[in-house]
Amino acid sequence: MPEQNDEVLLRVEHLCQYFGPTKAVDDVSFDIKKGEVFGLVGESGCGKTTTGRSIIKIYNITSGSIYFKGQRICAGTTGYKIEIKKARKELAELAKEASKATENKAELEAKLAEKKKAYSDLVIENRKKISAAKFDHKHSDREYAKTLIARTKAEYEPKLAAATGEELKTLQKKYKDELRVAKKTKLITKIQMIFQDPIASLDPRMTVREIIAEGLVINGIKDQNYIDEKVYEMLELVGLVREHAGRYPHEFSGGQRQRIGIARAVVMQPDLLIADEPVSALDVSIQAQVINLLNELRERLGLTILFIAHDLSVVKYFSNRIGVMYYGRMVELAETDELFAHPVHPYTRSLLSAIPLPDPHAEKQRKRIIYNALAAHDYSKQQPTLREIIPGHFVLCNDEEEAKYKEEFGF
Ligand SMILES: Nc1ncnc2c1ncn2[C@@H]1O[C@H](COP(=O)(O)OP(=O)(O)OP(=O)(O)O)[C@@H](O)[C@H]1O
Ligand SMILES: [Mg+2]
Repeated sequence: MPEQNDEVLLRVEHLCQYFGPTKAVDDVSFDIKKGEVFGLVGESGCGKTTTGRSIIKIYNITSGSIYFKGQRICAGTTGYKIEIKKARKELAELAKEASKATENKAELEAKLAEKKKAYSDLVIENRKKISAAKFDHKHSDREYAKTLIARTKAEYEPKLAAATGEELKTLQKKYKDELRVAKKTKLITKIQMIFQDPIASLDPRMTVREIIAEGLVINGIKDQNYIDEKVYEMLELVGLVREHAGRYPHEFSGGQRQRIGIARAVVMQPDLLIADEPVSALDVSIQAQVINLLNELRERLGLTILFIAHDLSVVKYFSNRIGVMYYGRMVELAETDELFAHPVHPYTRSLLSAIPLPDPHAEKQRKRIIYNALAAHDYSKQQPTLREIIPGHFVLCNDEEEAKYKEEFGF
């Protein structure tokens, strides 16, 4: 496995993405460390793609924040607005009560004055948060470029002051080059996504060359020779050949199309690759090839990967950590080995029980556990939250369940 360190590359905090009444993603938090593969699993419709698409800023997220390379790139505002609304309603109720009151009127009025002050503080505070969120959402690229420029300046200025003669000249040139790159860097292009459907995600009217080069062209690169060389390099990197550049997507098999999708993503030199079920639509025999390719690229290019899949068997050998989603919520999150050794949440256990076992005898004994959320939990008294029940192992549960799990697993 390639070097992995504790530097957090992506942090998702309380992400909510609602489509009307559908809570596609509901209060999901996790982070991805530089160099790791983070597997996100769960059944169809649980919100995996929506999470990925929120990260690449396809939506104005409902609430929560997403940080990439330490810069907040997404922030929702609805949560803050709801807080204001709720406080306003409470205030109105108290005002009504105070106006009607006869005996303890003075007391209620004092309480009302206090509440009014608290309300106006809350409004000021939340309005600040709303405008900060809007600002970050809109200007994260520019702000990131600013920090890069500042960092480059801080690095070079003392060196330049100390250098003389030839050394100074080389240094000045290097400084100029790095400053130019810093100014042009668009943070969001450092996250690239490979899409679930290799047929729908490639424009049938574009040649493979145009598809792979599109991002470079958008980034302002005009040198046709450079672009051609890059396209050929990428084709070879993903196991295709340069002669493929002039062809159209329909001339390729499913596995090859997915390779084109990977080339289109990797040409942007991303730090984070979001692979949304990149092999689900492919034949089993082809799946392993594409997974191997991703693993190879991860090592060669130092990629960090968010790997989305609907079952655990695909992510098992590939992920350092796994998050399990169910109906928009993260229900369990742990290191891969830990999750397989001690699956705690009943939904995770049901997913594990669905994986066929290689040993025929064991396979015969295997019992499918069916998960029924209503029967499995009683949340009438207390709602569940994601809790760290042993270091690094998180489970969605309430007090009662936490105690039960800890006893059952001897944590
Ligand atoms: N643009 C949209 N508008 C309205 N509802 C949406 C939209 N996108 C997704 N949804 C709904 O949000 C929920 C989560 O969808 P999502 O595509 O994220 O699931 P998924 O986990 O990727 O599923 P699959 O494994 O089938 O790809 C679903 O109920 C879906 O119908
Ligand atoms: Mg999906």
